[in-house]
Amino acid sequence: MLDDLKERNRRWAARKVAQDPGFFQRLVGQQTPQYLWIGCADSRVPASEIVDLDPGEVFVHRNVGNLAPPQDANYLSVLQFAVDVLKVKHILVVGHYGCGGVGAAVDGQRRGLVDHWLHPIREVYEQHRDELEAIEAGRPRLDRLCELNVMRQVRNVASDVFVQDAWARGQELHVHGWVYSIANGLVSDLGVTRTGAARYSSK
Ligand code: CO
Repeated sequence: MLDDLKERNRRWAARKVAQDPGFFQRLVGQQTPQYLWIGCADSRVPASEIVDLDPGEVFVHRNVGNLAPPQDANYLSVLQFAVDVLKVKHILVVGHYGCGGVGAAVDGQRRGLVDHWLHPIREVYEQHRDELEAIEAGRPRLDRLCELNVMRQVRNVASDVFVQDAWARGQELHVHGWVYSIANGLVSDLGVTRTGAARYSSK
């Protein structure tokens, strides 16, 4: 079963070693990524490949719709480990145009559990209803919703206590919002980077 994938894996590992004999050995001891990527699970948006990074260089959390829900234990565990232990310097929230999760959030169809998962995207829509409904329905409107969703998730990350505490103790940490275009392979920076300045410090 899956012999093609196993064969591809062997060829990939051999290629890596041919380019750099110490590659895997260096990774055995520890990982020291500078980046945490919070992205969509969409197969067309592979985190490390898009930014051309090797194994060991980006810590990755992906889910449907690139959400950072403040009650999600999976996301919070990844965030805390990235900030407190790995001490990444950059957190990238990366959405993508044409996101099926964003579309499904607001198309009125019922799919089951995922409708609950996508609830935060409907909240973003409600919050920006006037702006969104002034945009042509369909793809243009959904693409703007993709951007607004990223901005909202950046705010979630930046206001999380793990990030707030890191800033309060002077740790270098930047939270960025990007959106990726499947059509041309390019990311755009949405210009909503949060850097430093704890707002909820106990000090
Ligand atoms: Co998506």
